[in-house]
Amino acid sequence: MEEYIKIQDLTKTFQTKNGSLPVLRGVDLSVNQGEIFGIIGFSGAGKSTLARCVNGLEKPDAGSIKVAGEEVTALSKKQMRQERRHIGMVFQNFNLFEAKTVYENIAYPLRIRHEKRAIIDEKVKEVAQLVGLSDKLSSYPGGLSGGQKQRVGIARALIGEPDVLISDEATSALDPQTTLQILDLLRDINEKKGITILMITHELDAIKYSCDRMAVLEDGKIIEEGPVVDIFQNPHSRTGELFTKVFFRFQNDEFQSGAGI
Ligand SMILES: Nc1ncnc2c1ncn2[C@@H]1O[C@H](COP(=O)(O)OP(=O)(O)OP(=O)(O)O)[C@@H](O)[C@H]1O
Ligand SMILES: [Mg+2]
Repeated sequence: MEEYIKIQDLTKTFQTKNGSLPVLRGVDLSVNQGEIFGIIGFSGAGKSTLARCVNGLEKPDAGSIKVAGEEVTALSKKQMRQERRHIGMVFQNFNLFEAKTVYENIAYPLRIRHEKRAIIDEKVKEVAQLVGLSDKLSSYPGGLSGGQKQRVGIARALIGEPDVLISDEATSALDPQTTLQILDLLRDINEKKGITILMITHELDAIKYSCDRMAVLEDGKIIEEGPVVDIFQNPHSRTGELFTKVFFRFQNDEFQSGAGI
């Protein structure tokens, strides 16, 4: 399989009131084209910062990020805006415009590109159908469930026809049943459109359900990576061990009636 995202020795330190805070401390990572790759880590490990560096919202201090062979860190702001079209982003808190309809939320990336009205209309309807929202286009986010809101977020991420989708805790605010539906939708999109998905989460069960390979981010470094089954069976990092311990404890709990994931 072809390497699609290649990150090498990536570092990022934030300057804060209390001094400098190293957040990414030499991240190395390779994601293949067309795979759903999981990144797990505790809160504060640097997951969102890493995601923001990949899609150019954050500028790393040093290191390399190649997406489809192109060095993202070397792009100008204008080039970055172009490049970002290839990368869709989905967030935990949905980031929707409450005063805009579902239609306008989904259309937004094309509106700011001044795309023609007829093209926008066609594409909004196409992605709305893909995510199962065709009958909600005139609703406002306030009238939607969490799962429906995330479908809007996913549709908006897809409308620019990205090659890669970064899902930053996309299911963390959802109940287990809705989580499953959204994970199924992401897999469906991955299979139908061949989009590479970087699934960032602190839910190990979501990674087990969706990914073949994964990496563990601890204190700003990828501390282990490999097939999901290997890390489950034999975690080598403190983070990997803790996550799997909690996971198996829940699995073995006699009061747990087999949640299915
Ligand atoms: N713009 C910023 N300025 C200063 N510090 C920041 C900034 N963005 C993130 N940080 C800090 O960097 C660290 C990593 O943050 P990040 O959001 O990447 O973690 P995360 O792994 O996504 O955590 P979570 O699971 O809670 O989302 C945190 O200590 C955070 O406070
Ligand atoms: Mg985060």
